[in-house]
Amino acid sequence: MNSPSHLAVLGATGSVGKSTLDVARLHPDRIRTVALAGWRNTDRLLAISREFSPAGVCVAEEKATLFRSQVLGAGLNCRVLSGPTGLIELVQSEQVDTVVAGIAGAAGLSSTLAAVQAGKRVLIANKEPLVMCGELLRAEARAAKAVILPVDSEHNAVFQCLPEAHQTNLSRGDLGAVPTSDQSPISRITLTASGGPFIRTPAPDLKSVTIKEALAHPNWQMGPKITVDSATLMNKGLELIEACVFFDLPESQIDVVIHPQSVIHSLVHYVDGSVLAQMASPDMRIPLAHALAFPGRIRSGAPTLNLIEVSRLDFEEPDVARFPCLRLAREAARIGKGMPAVLNAANEVAVEAFLSGRLRFVDIPVLVEAVMERSDCPVINGLDDALGVDQNARHLAVEALKMRSVR
Ligand SMILES: NC(=O)c1ccc[n+]([C@@H]2O[C@H](COP(=O)([O-])OP(=O)(O)OC[C@H]3O[C@@H](n4cnc5c(N)ncnc54)[C@H](OP(=O)(O)O)[C@@H]3O)[C@@H](O)[C@H]2O)c1
Repeated sequence: MNSPSHLAVLGATGSVGKSTLDVARLHPDRIRTVALAGWRNTDRLLAISREFSPAGVCVAEEKATLFRSQVLGAGLNCRVLSGPTGLIELVQSEQVDTVVAGIAGAAGLSSTLAAVQAGKRVLIANKEPLVMCGELLRAEARAAKAVILPVDSEHNAVFQCLPEAHQTNLSRGDLGAVPTSDQSPISRITLTASGGPFIRTPAPDLKSVTIKEALAHPNWQMGPKITVDSATLMNKGLELIEACVFFDLPESQIDVVIHPQSVIHSLVHYVDGSVLAQMASPDMRIPLAHALAFPGRIRSGAPTLNLIEVSRLDFEEPDVARFPCLRLAREAARIGKGMPAVLNAANEVAVEAFLSGRLRFVDIPVLVEAVMERSDCPVINGLDDALGVDQNARHLAVEALKMRSVR
């Protein structure tokens, strides 16, 4: 048997965190959960800390004092860290060799980068850091000999369909691992998208979409930010940029198709006309189990796919007129430099404003486009550049919201 991995779960109180711990629970001999990071949901963090007895935990700064007393009261022998610096210390710990990056949004950037720089094996669900500065993350992975593995179901599916040599190179952050030259065996990648809850909603009705409707995803149980992103198709846009970075392909070689059943998670097209697809039930435990065990395989606990029950697989073009976020993400990928980080920051502000009732669903892409138009986007050479572009774009987005200039 391989020696057990020593796991840190960032975002342990969220949806990806829950799926990760579900898989870890099935394999106590192979996966030792030694560090857990939540943020504000300390009740949940305390419950999973009691179960897994981690050596270290991390919470938001304002929760630290109370949480320390709760940990003491529960008789747990674990170190309580807090805030962004606590997250970094947690992933750098010598006790940790594997990190699941499951924080939502740009808030996961510093800790994901720290895990990569510390040479850990980093399983990345948190797509926003890859969108903001994916090339930096890959370069740091190469320098630190870290292994990075995609957990987002589409990217994990593409990864599974690649030749073995490509998988090894990519997981080491190897630039050019999927060459675009004539010698490359790969001609295109197709990312699938469920289409979200509004796939059949006529354009005029999108103006009155409620928060509850946007949070009702037909196939996946996820956190609120990614669920809204799925409804606007921004999630697919972010994934398109993530795929450009991860697989070193231009956006023109990456297609997006709507596939409402969410059974085929993505496809790789080879030059000889062969197309390899990865199929599975829509359940995050599957890509997580794959990445946790790679290059081996372990049980995930997810239900087996029943093709008779699925019975049909449908595909259609995404409607970028109704869902402009996908067009904006392609534009950001084409422009490159800091523009994907601008798109991401403006989108985070817009989604938060929608979820707090301050912005209509249809105005999310309007706000993002307004910020993209007003941003100059310098090249991102390091963490400070990425954080600077992110902050500027957030500032522009907040100003645009205040001025109501997005309508
Ligand atoms: N959910 C999925 O099926 C899925 C699939 C593919 C990719 N992803 C990606 O995975 C990431 C997580 O998604 P999710 O659906 O799991 O989100 P989620 O359910 O909302 O969970 C987010 C996690 O991040 C923590 N968090 C929030 N703000 C933080 C901060 N400032 N610093 C540190 N931690 C913070 C939360 O802690 P508290 O709750 O304790 O405050 C929670 O543990 C996203 O980037 C998403 O795009 C998710």
